[in-house]
Amino acid sequence: MTARSTVVAVVSPKGGVGKTTVVANLAMALTDRRQSVLALDLDPQNALRLHLKMPVADSRGLAVQCLQQASLDHAEFLSPYGMRLLPYGSLAEDDRREFERMLDRDPQWLRRQLDAVPIAPGTITLIDTPPGGSVYLQQALLAADLALMVLLPDAASFVTIASMERWLADYCRSRSEFAGSYYVVNRMNAARPLCRDVLGAMQRELGYRLTPTVLRFDAMVEEAMASQAPVSRYAPDSLAAQDAAALADWLLAQVEIA
Ligand SMILES: Nc1ncnc2c1ncn2[C@@H]1O[C@H](COP(=O)(O)OP(=O)(O)OP(=O)(O)O)[C@@H](O)[C@H]1O
Ligand SMILES: [Mg+2]
Repeated sequence: MTARSTVVAVVSPKGGVGKTTVVANLAMALTDRRQSVLALDLDPQNALRLHLKMPVADSRGLAVQCLQQASLDHAEFLSPYGMRLLPYGSLAEDDRREFERMLDRDPQWLRRQLDAVPIAPGTITLIDTPPGGSVYLQQALLAADLALMVLLPDAASFVTIASMERWLADYCRSRSEFAGSYYVVNRMNAARPLCRDVLGAMQRELGYRLTPTVLRFDAMVEEAMASQAPVSRYAPDSLAAQDAAALADWLLAQVEIA
């Protein structure tokens, strides 16, 4: 693993599967394990900050910094929950398009920025991304040491596995420092036979690359978001808090192995 930090890209072809929620809750669980964490939002929705109590009126962010050719660390927000947050920032549409054109011309931009950001050894950087293929996905996967793909336990998610495997082939697998790609199922409802069947099919298809932790459906997740809190702060005994803790332990084991 590189000295800069371990960079984990959280991605999915489908929208609304839980990427932002996973990044926020994993950031909290890792922070609770005394791990230094940088949560980085590479999605123009700029929603990760809402989980980590950044004031809504605060417009700073990495895209804004980039367009002003200023250093990214000036956009950082220290969350009251203890992790560092690099939000995307609030941009006018014209500026967003200009930022995306710049990313398109320079696919290694994020990778270079992460090498330059001052960071404690052992930090885990979690990157949230928008759904589907985009300049953001390319930047995140080219910067990643490890990729975490989020799936729902439904047929539509199952068929997206092939497109994620193509992304990994394009952006990750040829890099010697790339440590691996894993899938996690979110919003699992074991009471539904279809969810159980799809989960079984995913386990057969992906083997060890499907994380042993399945993130269960839990209404506390949305409630926590409404309170601008990671779920383990809002509802410490909830299923979602237990699952985030288990996923953090699994991730730390992968980082040690790599
Ligand atoms: N385990 C869960 N149990 C219940 N609800 C969940 C769970 N995980 C996520 N959600 C809810 O699902 C919705 C989508 O989650 P989220 O915004 O994290 O998805 P996303 O993949 O980041 O979406 P986008 O593709 O738009 O960025 C939210 O309302 C969130 O509260
Ligand atoms: Mg999101």
